[in-house]
Amino acid sequence: MKSEPVDLDAVAAQAVALCRERAESKRIRITVSLPETLPKARGDTTAVERVLTNLIENAAKYGPEAATIVVDAGERDGRVEVTVTDSGPGIEQRHLSRLFERFYRVDPGRSREMGGTGLGLSIVKNLVEAMGGEVGVESTPGKGSTFRFSLPRA
Ligand SMILES: Nc1ncnc2c1ncn2[C@@H]1O[C@H](COP(=O)(O)OP(=O)(O)OP(=O)(O)O)[C@@H](O)[C@H]1O
Ligand SMILES: [Mg+2]
Repeated sequence: MKSEPVDLDAVAAQAVALCRERAESKRIRITVSLPETLPKARGDTTAVERVLTNLIENAAKYGPEAATIVVDAGERDGRVEVTVTDSGPGIEQRHLSRLFERFYRVDPGRSREMGGTGLGLSIVKNLVEAMGGEVGVESTPGKGSTFRFSLPRA
């Protein structure tokens, strides 16, 4: 893994482009609203792109038709924090502590039907932690979820 300055604007644009097809097929709108003053993060550009793509993919995959996804970022405690917020089904509290484990899926039957392996979020966690950051999630069933990750400043 590289340790380089990461331009989150460029990474977010690329991640959104990679998810466009899935999003368009469900009329999902993805908004990127990074502040102009956002400092660069330190990490591996390809890894950050993979992390963000995974989170946006999930939001598009588990969200309903015409859901919205917002990618935001800010500085917090001297770090750069990126959030992906969706208006999807949300996740019950009891699942949240295990969500980033390998193969953990909230609804195994339904998730299997939708394809995928249950590895996405474990990869997200591994990559972010390898770059010295942390992952987190907040969710309200029936309202949506916010996934976040932090990275050191460049
Ligand atoms: N934005 C979200 N809204 C609702 N549920 C989610 C969301 N993101 C993840 N989940 C739940 O968390 C589980 C784990 O997600 P993860 O990305 O690790 O695996 P996956 O999407 O099932 O498979 P893969 O990412 O390997 O294709 C999913 O199966 C799904 O139940
Ligand atoms: Mg996934």
